[in-house]
Amino acid sequence: MASPSEFKPTIVGFLCNWCCYGGADLAGVSRFQYPPYLRVIRLMCSGRVDLEFIFRAFAKKADAVFIGGCHLGDCHYNPEGNYDALGNSFVAKRILDHIGINPDRLRLEWVSAGEGIRFAEIMNDFGAKIKALGPFGSSEGRPVEDLLAGLDAAAQLVPYFKLVERERFRVSNRSEAGYKEFFARPDYEPLFRELVLDKLTMSRMMGVLRAGVTSVENMARKLGIDEQEVARHLHLLSQQGMVRIDADQVQVALAA
Ligand code: FES
Repeated sequence: MASPSEFKPTIVGFLCNWCCYGGADLAGVSRFQYPPYLRVIRLMCSGRVDLEFIFRAFAKKADAVFIGGCHLGDCHYNPEGNYDALGNSFVAKRILDHIGINPDRLRLEWVSAGEGIRFAEIMNDFGAKIKALGPFGSSEGRPVEDLLAGLDAAAQLVPYFKLVERERFRVSNRSEAGYKEFFARPDYEPLFRELVLDKLTMSRMMGVLRAGVTSVENMARKLGIDEQEVARHLHLLSQQGMVRIDADQVQVALAA
């Protein structure tokens, strides 16, 4: 493995055409120095960055994902897409954390086309932080294949997540403070856990079981959650007739 000084992170950057891409271009033309880690994908708006793009980028072993949009209030589309990017980044960070990936590997920033210096400063700062974290999986302390399995399960559930986001997590106060306040509300966490994280955990458990019979202990290790949590979900899956648990609750298998 590369030593920290040799490690050159791969950062996938989704940049809005109208603002952040212009800022990146200006940084280049003005010869502001920043490390060459960014692989740019130009999009018309930061709101186009689907949750699936983020999960797939990490699944392709990106060490980090950067989303750059216009400042709030300056988005070129109506309704403003950068508020969607803001909501998605809150949700994506929470899901990444749940599947064992350091959420600091995802960063969202607003950069205008005239802010070449700001773009270079952000890239210098983000690059240094990702270098300190190390390659994808190294700061996570979990086998990379387990993280990839979590990403795959998350990517497959994106249509469901979008539905839940639209129906249950719609933020009415379109301001940065409004979004922060919404995602910090005491009733948000239990609802998010029930509607999103629990669903994701059960999907990941089914993925483990498709590979063969296993134990609660092994399942907990693979998913990075405690055995009680595994047992709780297994109980629900068994009530739905999807899994079979032996009498001693040691062996678990898919229902025939
Ligand atoms: Fe730039 Fe929407 S057009 S974030």
